[in-house]
Amino acid sequence: MQGALTILGIETSCDETAAAVLRLEDGRATVLGERIASQTEEHALYGGVVPEIAARAHVERLDSLIALAMQDAGIGWGGLSGVAATAGPGLIGGVMAGLSAAKAIALARGIPLIAVNHLEGHALSPRLAEEVSFPYLLLLVSGGHCQFVAVEGLGHYRRLGSTIDDAAGEAFDKTAKMLGLAGQGGPAVEREALTGHPKAVDLPRPLLDRPGLDMSFSGLKTAVRRAIEEKPLTPQRRADICASFQEAVADILTMKSSRAMAQVKDQFDRHTFVVAGGVAANKTLRARLEAEARHHGFHFFAPPMRWCTDNAAMIALAGAERLHRGISDPLDTPARARWPLDESSASAAPIYGGGKKGAKA
Ligand code: KG4
Ligand code: ZN
Repeated sequence: MQGALTILGIETSCDETAAAVLRLEDGRATVLGERIASQTEEHALYGGVVPEIAARAHVERLDSLIALAMQDAGIGWGGLSGVAATAGPGLIGGVMAGLSAAKAIALARGIPLIAVNHLEGHALSPRLAEEVSFPYLLLLVSGGHCQFVAVEGLGHYRRLGSTIDDAAGEAFDKTAKMLGLAGQGGPAVEREALTGHPKAVDLPRPLLDRPGLDMSFSGLKTAVRRAIEEKPLTPQRRADICASFQEAVADILTMKSSRAMAQVKDQFDRHTFVVAGGVAANKTLRARLEAEARHHGFHFFAPPMRWCTDNAAMIALAGAERLHRGISDPLDTPARARWPLDESSASAAPIYGGGKKGAKA
């Protein structure tokens, strides 16, 4: 498809309801309107995201968020070239809510539907703000996923390694919960860590002694629990645990990233390292990864903070890039709880268990 494309994007795979209008012209993306509503308060009582509550909240908010994003963009329905929605992976009730809304708009307006893989949205997210050309090495690190991916082009993803148990974001969330910190786990731990000492508590770095790019975070979580039980939890002890935990995660991800860059160096004609996903919002981690990339002679990109965590701009971008290549999806496209980015290596090695948002593979 030629010329400028204006796409409405919808994201409802977890606990963020989001709508965005994006224009893609000559390969450059401009976000024209964007609205997001977080459900942190709805789930706070339960200590985790409750799928049924999430789905209901998406249904209640989606129509008005879409209307506001369209209003911000200053366009009417006639101005849209297509509508894109997350079709998976994620909590199935929420994914169905967003995908159904997109199907209704596509049907009513006679415009193409683009069913987007949420992970592809994260994978392309740095391209919202900067020109990041293919191929690149991606570390996708969020609440449901933690993997290294060779991004060879749109739709061409090769998984190089992944967590074998929990995602890094999940470990942040569990640590915050065990310490009784309020709000979203990652930012809460990061805030506490500011006044803690990163070497105060001795925590493990699982799998660093083994070759390859697979990672593990569940042992780290158990070690945090033991550290909490070991001594009285004074404010300083709490800050020390957070700082030591954050340091352990940063060590694991930095050392594995170093290995990943060394591995792809000869395969890629362009040396670019990208980190995306909610945990990429962590400042300590970003700084460590950036320094490691520089050390390897790689260009480093991370999306602006607001596009690290779940958002609809990245879904609109993935939709626009697909539609630009003439790709759209039928109106009976199903919502998928599980949908690996690299289907070939996931089916070859379906080892990884379910997480907050389904399979981590
Ligand atoms: O990408 P995202 O919004 O949702 C998924 O697709 O999973 O990522 C959410 C995850 C949560 O686990 C959250 O605690 C973590 O990203 N996160 C952070 C930070 N901000 C969000 N982790 C560490 N430091 C942060 N600043
Ligand atoms: Zn996400």
